[in-house]
Amino acid sequence: MTDMPRKILLNPGPGTTSQSVKDALVVEDICPREKEFQEVMENLRRDLVKVVHAGNDYDCVMFAGSGTAVMDACINSVVPPDKKILIVNNGAYGMRLAAIAKAYGIAVEEMKFAWDSPPSLQAIEEKLASDADGSIACIAMVHHETTTGLLNPVKETGALAQRYGKTFIVDGISSYAAIPIDIEACHIDYLLSTSNKCIQGMAGISFVIAKISALESAGKFPSRSYYLDLCEQYAYMKRTGQMTFTAPVQIVYALQQAVKEYFDEGAEKRRARYSENWDTLYEGLAKLGFQFLLKPEHESKILLSVREPTHPDFDFNVLHDRLYARGFTIYPGKIDNTKTFRLAVIGDLRKQDMLDFRVALEETLAGMGIQHPLYI
Ligand SMILES: Cc1ncc(COP(=O)(O)O)c(C=O)c1O
Repeated sequence: MTDMPRKILLNPGPGTTSQSVKDALVVEDICPREKEFQEVMENLRRDLVKVVHAGNDYDCVMFAGSGTAVMDACINSVVPPDKKILIVNNGAYGMRLAAIAKAYGIAVEEMKFAWDSPPSLQAIEEKLASDADGSIACIAMVHHETTTGLLNPVKETGALAQRYGKTFIVDGISSYAAIPIDIEACHIDYLLSTSNKCIQGMAGISFVIAKISALESAGKFPSRSYYLDLCEQYAYMKRTGQMTFTAPVQIVYALQQAVKEYFDEGAEKRRARYSENWDTLYEGLAKLGFQFLLKPEHESKILLSVREPTHPDFDFNVLHDRLYARGFTIYPGKIDNTKTFRLAVIGDLRKQDMLDFRVALEETLAGMGIQHPLYI
């Protein structure tokens, strides 16, 4: 395929993809019910399980849909009918997990924490300890809160889930393949992710890496959804190797290529590349006088939340449009009360892209007549 101009996407997914992932979209037409496609799907599911070091007691259940599809499928399928789910909410995606549960009429114990710091493990433990009648069956938490760039304590919360005998659901949608995760060591029963973030494929598939014994237990609960039924989808995939409903064929081939590129690069090197991208951005923006939302020790190094300058000539939309015209996409914030914008460093991006962005940002700010200080 002919190369096209490379765009630098600093939005938190879908990320910039490699040329080879783009090329993988163009395949011979094939019916997704063919054995050949089934083999592609089965190998892909096995590889997606390996990314988080899971053994044979885990499987991968896929859906056609964005990340929210598996948040929905998992929450609606795994909470027993007469039990509650405890949701740790310190960002927009924690809030979405709770909203999904409420939409299904599932009883929710929502623990709300400040959005700019990790949740209190002591408070979570106290909540579990006070649940004398065992009404809480599940705990759900977002690993990397893409709202802010904050990393949540998944390992420690997993240890609590195990100690108190709870099913542990982790939204790893923006951390999977960016941060090495040992699913068993973190006692995770269900880990959610998607094709278009740090695994670096195209948008269109979301998946759950699930403990088979947990899926089998949840399969006995009455179904709450027809399409987004995690246990039905698992049973169908196990039986046939296919998705119940039409698979996004070309996205599957692109994901297969992206997963190959993930293993070629290696988990540690991907983490190091993203960290280097982030450090380069952080250093450049700090030099320009920008301020950041989080304390450095809470930063995921996947995404940087920048406080919007209060300089009278600063206008996020103008900045966005001028940078966009130069091939760089930046992303607005999602926090009430604090104006921020976000820069993610995921996808097929390297240090040189960050250096190029720094130059473009400095020139664009100068063009907008914005000089020091940025905050007045
Ligand atoms: C942590 C997290 N969870 C869930 C989602 C929702 O995914 P989607 O927008 O693909 O539905 C996102 C998207 O950015 C996310 O970052």
